[in-house]
Amino acid sequence: MKINSNFLNLKDSYLFATVGRKTTAYKAAHPEKKVIRLSIGDVTRPLAPVVIEAMHKAVDDMSRKETFKGYGPDQYCYGYEALIDSIKGSYARKGISLESGEVFVSDGAKSDLGNILDLFAPENTVLVPDPVYPVYVDTNVMAGRKILYADANLANGFLPMPDFSVDADIVYLCSPNNPTGAAYTKEQLKEWVKYAREKDAVLLYDAAYEYFITDPALARSIYQIEGAKECAIEFCSYSKTAGFTGVRCGYTIVPMALVREGTSLNKLWARRQSTKFNGVSYITQMGAAAVFTEEGEKQISENLGYYRENAKIIATCLDELGIFYTGGKNSPYIWLKCPNGMDSWQFFDYLLENANVVGTPGSGFGKNGEGFFRLTAFGTKEDTLEACSRLKTLLKK
Ligand code: MLT
Repeated sequence: MKINSNFLNLKDSYLFATVGRKTTAYKAAHPEKKVIRLSIGDVTRPLAPVVIEAMHKAVDDMSRKETFKGYGPDQYCYGYEALIDSIKGSYARKGISLESGEVFVSDGAKSDLGNILDLFAPENTVLVPDPVYPVYVDTNVMAGRKILYADANLANGFLPMPDFSVDADIVYLCSPNNPTGAAYTKEQLKEWVKYAREKDAVLLYDAAYEYFITDPALARSIYQIEGAKECAIEFCSYSKTAGFTGVRCGYTIVPMALVREGTSLNKLWARRQSTKFNGVSYITQMGAAAVFTEEGEKQISENLGYYRENAKIIATCLDELGIFYTGGKNSPYIWLKCPNGMDSWQFFDYLLENANVVGTPGSGFGKNGEGFFRLTAFGTKEDTLEACSRLKTLLKK
């Protein structure tokens, strides 16, 4: 038996696992200290009341033989029509029309972003922005694929544009971006769609943070760009939109129009999912179906507003300290330049040890992240205020 030796090319541990391990070790050594985590983007607001109500009702359905549910419907890879219709409704409000068979319910964007690679031959070349969500790189390293990087830096506002002299088959885009918070305008995305169509490439578009966008010039979905249905797959999640990090539900759009080598990628994905996936629980799906209702959208926007307020608190603190940052406006992440020339992990240790605040080192997202640091707005308001007050005391010195 031989192992998949590509795994040996991965870093020892997943970025957030390393951050978690360091934090736990520090807490164990200093049990008297209150450590504030503004590192992994994990939500703190409870689920919206409409979601809870729908989930309670679904639990009751499971208690009666007349309404009990086993496996989900196989017509749409175990996605219930009520949920699929609500997702189609949310797209329709962005001016995008979808067929039910184009919507695949998942347990979150992360799993599908990795699983989608089953559809692509190992010899494809992948283009990944740097810095970016580490899952794109790690999953391709596991598959032994050749990875090229598109530099995201201060010069391009952390929004790399296509270089038509570079040939890539699979291109990842994440907008609003994790970790930099930068978001593409529709005009900028037109260029990426043009690139993908010219190169016969497929765009893997991660829109997990789209509900944080308030600026109408920014794209909420790649399908707002003409021609994108022929070249893009979109990944979305209820995690950040509706506080589902612990519940687990997302959706992936694979358009019928996406065809390569005469084969429908929608058909391939349906085939893959029906073989390797048994769907998301009925209770979860019913909760998710309440999110994109009129009342649901009102309630989630209150939570999104709460996180936006946290982002503002962090931004104001950095302004007062004269520290450069991006993000925090159409995104829950604030991407700041480490002060005093510290590198990302030095600043991580410095903050942890001297302010007991945990963030995420920018270098963990790629080489261009070196010297940067990410803070999340997903903490509680109290913790965010306290963390900022500690930052000011420490860094004003
Ligand atoms: C992050 O902190 O980057 C995210 O929470 C990771 C994720 O969504 O998996």
